[in-house]
Amino acid sequence: ISQPLLHNSAQFKGLPFGIAFDIDGVILRGRAPIAGAAQAIQRLYHKDGTMKVPFLFLTNGGGLPESKRALELSELLGVNILPSQVVQGHSMFRNLLGRYQNELIVATGKGDPALVMSEYGFNKVFSIEEYTSYFKDIDPVSQYKNWTTMPKNDQSSTLMKKASACDVYRERVKAAFVVSDPVDWGRDIQVLCDILRTGSPSGQENGGQPALYFAADDLEYQAAFPAKRLGVGAFRIALESIFNRVHHTPLECIIYGKPEPLAFKNAEATLRQLHCHTDFDVQLNNNQSDYFRALYMVGDNPSVDIKGARQAGDPWIPVLTRTGLFQGKGNHKEYPADLVVDTVKDAVDYILEKEF
Ligand code: G3P
Ligand code: MG
Repeated sequence: ISQPLLHNSAQFKGLPFGIAFDIDGVILRGRAPIAGAAQAIQRLYHKDGTMKVPFLFLTNGGGLPESKRALELSELLGVNILPSQVVQGHSMFRNLLGRYQNELIVATGKGDPALVMSEYGFNKVFSIEEYTSYFKDIDPVSQYKNWTTMPKNDQSSTLMKKASACDVYRERVKAAFVVSDPVDWGRDIQVLCDILRTGSPSGQENGGQPALYFAADDLEYQAAFPAKRLGVGAFRIALESIFNRVHHTPLECIIYGKPEPLAFKNAEATLRQLHCHTDFDVQLNNNQSDYFRALYMVGDNPSVDIKGARQAGDPWIPVLTRTGLFQGKGNHKEYPADLVVDTVKDAVDYILEKEF
């Protein structure tokens, strides 16, 4: 454990503390838990299964509704994770409901991005796969693909009966959402270039670019493969470079997720709710700003997790592990954490020792 630069919390004694865990490279490598991760999370519960420390998962990954992800994590970690403890890159897309609830929108990414958006309440959402299927020959190399990106149990289509072929041909797409890592980059870049130029693959240019939202912007992340893998941010660069060559107006997009300050504000508010609504021993200070004495962000990506927590300021404390993107001996040079540990288990041991 590197020498920590943690604050002296004496003046905040009595206020609660909380923890936000990154998932990829901290809790999981691919679908497998990292050694000690399950035990670390289990230490945050009392013997009777109630939560001892308010905590959540703050990941830039996604592709499944929070309820499903919570079930998956519960099985992998042997505890009962609540859907509200899963904050994904796309979780904040909910806030855009007022703007696009009944507008035609397209969603792409691994998992079931249309189901994610339908569950948030968007009524006219198509997966890019389904949208593409309405335009014959839109993907000129589709006959060479002997696979599909359509989710296996396509629940999203049942939820989307309100949207019809008629809507697809008549209406402009108002916004495109990159919900998680795109699977078929070639098709997605082609179809997004079509949509973002005109609002429809067959349409005339009649107005500005439809909005484009990214759930995150990670250039790379740590999955199961030993070396780093390209993430949503890499896809964004590819799309942007190509769009800007085929179109006269530069691509505009809006990016959510870490390290954006909004992601940390939202995590703080969620942790506060978890603390208020769960049966903790102490219930103090209901004031939003000084509610926590410390909020630890345990992450593996210096330019995303550590930079984000640092930018978010008090009461966030960035903690860096060596099980993911960062594997250096000391601290990261450009985005140093307050504490660097080998694993998430070391992080939790340290935090509990310090705070209790
Ligand atoms: O696609 C997932 C990745 O970009 C990062 O996930 O959990 O490390 O924020 P996480
Ligand atoms: Mg990570």
